[in-house]
Amino acid sequence: MDNSETLLQGKSSRDDSIDYHKLSGILNYKIEDNQIRFNFKNASLVIRFLTADIFRIIMANSKQQFNYKSTEAVIDHNLSYNDFKFEENNKELIIKTEKLVIKIEKEKFFLQVFNKEGKLIHQDYSKYSLGWKKKKLRAWKSFKNNERFYGLGEKTGWLDKKGRLYEMWNHDTFVPHVSDTDPLYQSIPFLISFNQNNSYGIYFDNSYRTYFDLGSEGQPYYSFWAEGGVLDYYFFNGPSLKEVISKYSKITGTMPLAPKWSLGYHQSRYSYYPQAKVAELVKKFRDKEIPCDAFHFDIHYMDQYKIYTWNEDRFPDPAAMISKMGKEGIKAVTIIDPGIKKDPEYKLYQEGMENDYFCKYLDGKVFIDKVWPGNCAFPDFTQAKVRNWWSGLQQDFVELGVKGIWNDMNEPAVFNEEDTMDLAVMHQNDGDSGTHRRFHNLYGLLEDQATYKGLKESLDNERPFVLTRAGFAGIQRYSAVWTGDNRSFWDNLKLAMPMLMNMGMSGISFCGTDVGGFTGNSNGELLCRWTQLGAFSPFFRNHCEVRAISQEPWSFGKKYEKIIKKYIELRYKFITHLYNLFYQASKTGIPVMRPLIMEFPEDEECQNLSDQFMFGDSIMIAPVYQPDKDKRMIYLPEGKWFDFWTKEIYHGKKHIIIDAPLATMPILIKAGSIVPLNEKLNYIGEKEIESLELNIFLSEVNNSGSYELYDDDGISYDYQNGIYNITKFDYKYTDNQIIFKINSIQDNYQQEFKDYKLIFNNLTKEPLNIDVDNSKLTKFNYFNNSLEFKVPVTVNKITIKLS
Ligand code: NOJ
Repeated sequence: MDNSETLLQGKSSRDDSIDYHKLSGILNYKIEDNQIRFNFKNASLVIRFLTADIFRIIMANSKQQFNYKSTEAVIDHNLSYNDFKFEENNKELIIKTEKLVIKIEKEKFFLQVFNKEGKLIHQDYSKYSLGWKKKKLRAWKSFKNNERFYGLGEKTGWLDKKGRLYEMWNHDTFVPHVSDTDPLYQSIPFLISFNQNNSYGIYFDNSYRTYFDLGSEGQPYYSFWAEGGVLDYYFFNGPSLKEVISKYSKITGTMPLAPKWSLGYHQSRYSYYPQAKVAELVKKFRDKEIPCDAFHFDIHYMDQYKIYTWNEDRFPDPAAMISKMGKEGIKAVTIIDPGIKKDPEYKLYQEGMENDYFCKYLDGKVFIDKVWPGNCAFPDFTQAKVRNWWSGLQQDFVELGVKGIWNDMNEPAVFNEEDTMDLAVMHQNDGDSGTHRRFHNLYGLLEDQATYKGLKESLDNERPFVLTRAGFAGIQRYSAVWTGDNRSFWDNLKLAMPMLMNMGMSGISFCGTDVGGFTGNSNGELLCRWTQLGAFSPFFRNHCEVRAISQEPWSFGKKYEKIIKKYIELRYKFITHLYNLFYQASKTGIPVMRPLIMEFPEDEECQNLSDQFMFGDSIMIAPVYQPDKDKRMIYLPEGKWFDFWTKEIYHGKKHIIIDAPLATMPILIKAGSIVPLNEKLNYIGEKEIESLELNIFLSEVNNSGSYELYDDDGISYDYQNGIYNITKFDYKYTDNQIIFKINSIQDNYQQEFKDYKLIFNNLTKEPLNIDVDNSKLTKFNYFNNSLEFKVPVTVNKITIKLS
């Protein structure tokens, strides 16, 4: 059990490393299978190897209980590595694995990590490495001037996080999100250090309030510490950024494959009611043929803000409404807050009180404080019985037809001075109880876990959709994340890009912002530009606050509506590619939305490039994020790039200025790549997509390219039984011919496409003859250096003879 000594809260980096008791002087050590245990006078420490290049360090001082307990972020990964060699000399201990050499200078326990070639990858700060002050445990690390920091989840500021102090404490932050607003709603204590040849990651597995000071006072070290718990961190060797992220994903899990409809466009506001208004909205979307897959119901659908109820005056027949929406392809996503109204006549409050489900003080008094419904009690999600109860609550809503749950206010937000629960409130945690100081950052994660499980159990072989505001490392296993209450400011549009890219690098692939801005009034131009970015954000939802003017796609007149519609439609044209990226993220953790540095690690220009991003590995998006701009400066890494709209070719390794009138967001395609595009859809599953366009962007002669496409039914779990397809397309472009091959790697799913429409761009030589498998193709189009023709999906090889 945790005793709740009060600590100074707030940003305490000025917290003087000097006063810390520094770890020094090893008394003895012991090698035990995959780990080495060290004893010091006042502390003990373990280095545990999970693989040849992932290790974990746990340190506790003698006032604490040393333990190996991980937070809920860490999954059961079964990783263990004991094949290391150990040497000792007067000054040093040396541990060698197949990939790393770790040297520890004995006196200060100064740790250095080298790669096999002897290159230094990472080292502690030379003056002190680990220490503690009362309940705080801290690690100090050195960094080089040219080192870049990424990750840390949902943080404002630039792509490179260097030079600031960051706090991990889930917080309902309604004040404007500006460059140094911190903390926000999520805590992801995962830091990536980027070096061109040797990137590494550190995941600090501690759920207490933690800090990362990345040189905020110009000090020659960075450090991280927590206000409680033991010091428990993982080191992931890259060497590439992608490998760091994949290794982190091994420990905290990847996002499961989402239902395809959740990748579509979502419409929301605080709040749509009554029922007739919803019907009107559905009709408008369909009459105007603006694609849409989901409506979100904000708190006004409830009866007095009591969760899992409906306000009967506003929504006399939710089941009928949801079914009607469903016929038009629009799914219902309902908001849920964790606070349960204190009302003796309210079933959930009764159940919670009767079964001891709520968070309470040591003396047994239930913690009650205000949120939207007035006084509320809060489920203690650290208890399995409470999570089971919560999972069970999903059933009724699923029966009504609800397909997704939007978990809001789950930091948890409380309308009091602390903006959350009293830190002295206890969580039972199934026998390992502790105060809210320890469990605060886990509250949303545990709620989302219960929601996800409940939805999955209630839905009939359908994948659930959960959206959350709060979370901790590992949140990707249960939920998509949106960045909370941004504002209808241009600055917030700009901020969105590095924020989402860093969330992606922190394991959260499925993330997005409130398109149009939440607080304040949006306008036509801003909504156009934000929709353009939204169309290429993993999660795409337009949402605004209760007082804000309407910001549905048509709200600002025809001129803007047309542009907004164009980009929502574009989202659906890219949906096959997007779903493929989601599949890859579910396998490897590599995010959908990527900073350029992930694809071009050699290019220094990309290291802090915060206003362009990659949508996969070959499509570059350069949103316009300032008003009254019709040009955009773009950095192009080495190689040739195609303007997606005009097919004009640019040469990279330089900046270009490109036309970007309001109707155009620059999209550039890396030469050599294949991009699938499908026909327009009003919603996912509206009809079978008969033809898939494969756009081949040819670079120069003697070049090749490939694309591997995953596909399944987009909704069920049948893919887990092998019911999916993987098709590999590749081409070889030589002097006198192009050979295009279609290889089916897995084809258990009866795919919807009947044919592929191949479009070869930048084909400067005229095609003389086209053989499709063994027969000659007579129908094709060659115009303006572009060759187009269709082939059935069963074809294996196409040979195009060139003049
Ligand atoms: C706060 C959320 O961040 C916002 O999206 C929502 O509309 C309001 N709560 C009301 O539920």
